[in-house]
Amino acid sequence: MVESFDAIVLPSIEIAPSILAADFAALGDAIRAVESAGVSMLHVDVMDGHFVPNISIGVPVVASLRKATRLTLDVHLMIEEPERYIEAFAAAGADMISVHEEATPHLDRALTRIREHGCRAGAVINPATPVNLLSEVLGKVDHVLVMSVNPGFGGQSFIPAAVEKIRQLRQMRERHNYSFRIAVDGGIGPENVAEVARAGAQILVAGTSVFHTPDPAASVRSMMQQAQEALVQIA
Ligand code: DX5
Ligand code: ZN
Repeated sequence: MVESFDAIVLPSIEIAPSILAADFAALGDAIRAVESAGVSMLHVDVMDGHFVPNISIGVPVVASLRKATRLTLDVHLMIEEPERYIEAFAAAGADMISVHEEATPHLDRALTRIREHGCRAGAVINPATPVNLLSEVLGKVDHVLVMSVNPGFGGQSFIPAAVEKIRQLRQMRERHNYSFRIAVDGGIGPENVAEVARAGAQILVAGTSVFHTPDPAASVRSMMQQAQEALVQIA
């Protein structure tokens, strides 16, 4: 006789380690560390020194990451005229590409182009940008990324107003029966993963709180557990 039992269904939530906080001379080690923690996604911050006041990495690094891992590469473009570079990042091996609402007058075109190149398309909003500016594209995005810091640098403090924006997005998704995932990026750590998870964030981008710790894999596992427990409590 087969015993029946109730399966425990863990909520769909994940930590996306941001390699911006890793040692760029040892990215392979950083990747292996978070792979061992069971993550499925790596967040890759691309900055051009114009849209944000910092320069990070570009297409060749994404191509190298693609050779080094099978993790989903989530490329966050913090660059002006993002449409010009979508093809190159897709060809380099990006799986997800996110563009800022503030970076282009043609957000719809940029999102369409991302999908045409076979990637999942995301729209990003800065702390000063209201959620409703995305209302016309929410039906055609795979994910929405809420910035909980002003983009440009790792290690900044979490801006609490992001929590309400996550809630609003969840409500808009329910109201219109959309299917995008909600992500949050900036200042995410053990002190706020439960709160953003409860608000509705499903992808928690974390840089400093993963890579600036003695054991990045343990940090990921612990934040993941906290987020899942927070959801179980409200289930
Ligand atoms: C900020 C980047 C973030 C950054 C987050 O502009 O978009 O992805 O890496 O870093 P932490 O987690 O340190 O705030
Ligand atoms: Zn980012």
